[in-house]
Amino acid sequence: MKESFEDKKYAPVGVFDSGVGGLTVAREIMRQLPKESIIYFGDTARVPYGSKSKETIIRYSRQIIHFLESMGVKAIVVACNTASAFALEEIRPEMKMPIIGVVKPGAKVAAETTRNGRIGVIGTEGTVGSQIYSEMVHRHNPNAVVLGKACPLFVPLVEEGWLKDSVTIEVARRYLASFQESGIDTLILGCTHYPLLRSTIRDIMGDGVNLVNPAYETAQGLKRLLGQYRIANDGKGPSTSAGYQFYVSDAAEKFKNFANSILPCEIKKAQLIHIEE
Ligand code: DGL
Repeated sequence: MKESFEDKKYAPVGVFDSGVGGLTVAREIMRQLPKESIIYFGDTARVPYGSKSKETIIRYSRQIIHFLESMGVKAIVVACNTASAFALEEIRPEMKMPIIGVVKPGAKVAAETTRNGRIGVIGTEGTVGSQIYSEMVHRHNPNAVVLGKACPLFVPLVEEGWLKDSVTIEVARRYLASFQESGIDTLILGCTHYPLLRSTIRDIMGDGVNLVNPAYETAQGLKRLLGQYRIANDGKGPSTSAGYQFYVSDAAEKFKNFANSILPCEIKKAQLIHIEE
């Protein structure tokens, strides 16, 4: 039987990523679960995660989860594919509160919506190398063919804010060239930074390829999870509107400006913390 968390109904949800990418997931939670408050942590001092080892990502994820727990969150969203691929299943047994990642929800929707069974996945070296998307897609669609491509330059380009720059378009063309003749009809944006490059990727891949952003399904999954644990905020708590707080491990001002360019609300401050302490 699940432990009762009902007294945590009005507590915030903790969301984390290596940097700004997880904001694409936070943004979707804000849209779909407008009554939920969020505490977001972006590990801007240690980004990128995608080229680091599994052991390192597990250590970073544990530190961040301890921080979010100390802030009183009621559930955790691992808004990073690399951390979801490397750390989620390691850490889940250690946790009492609900935790959800982005890989499973994204893989499920791709497996269920592909028409020809040919699915591409782009992500970090860590995520693509782990083969986790392929494994998860095959749970729902055993005959699907899953083709992966690591796109390591996308993360620094997004962190730099070069979302529509000519350099970014050229880099995207090169990475995506391998999919041009592959016959895929679905492409999973398997890194939370990549939905910010959606229009560039769309222009290159064309309208015939369905781009899957796991953020949407993750927010749906979070909604179900909060319901199962009976901790969904019903809006009848002490605070009438959802509150959003942002913490980072470096470059707080740059993070704040970026967040304000993509979130539906204005954030006043991103607070710097020393996550290793
Ligand atoms: N946004 C993250 C992901 O979804 C990590 C990118 C990185 O830090 O390399 O994998």
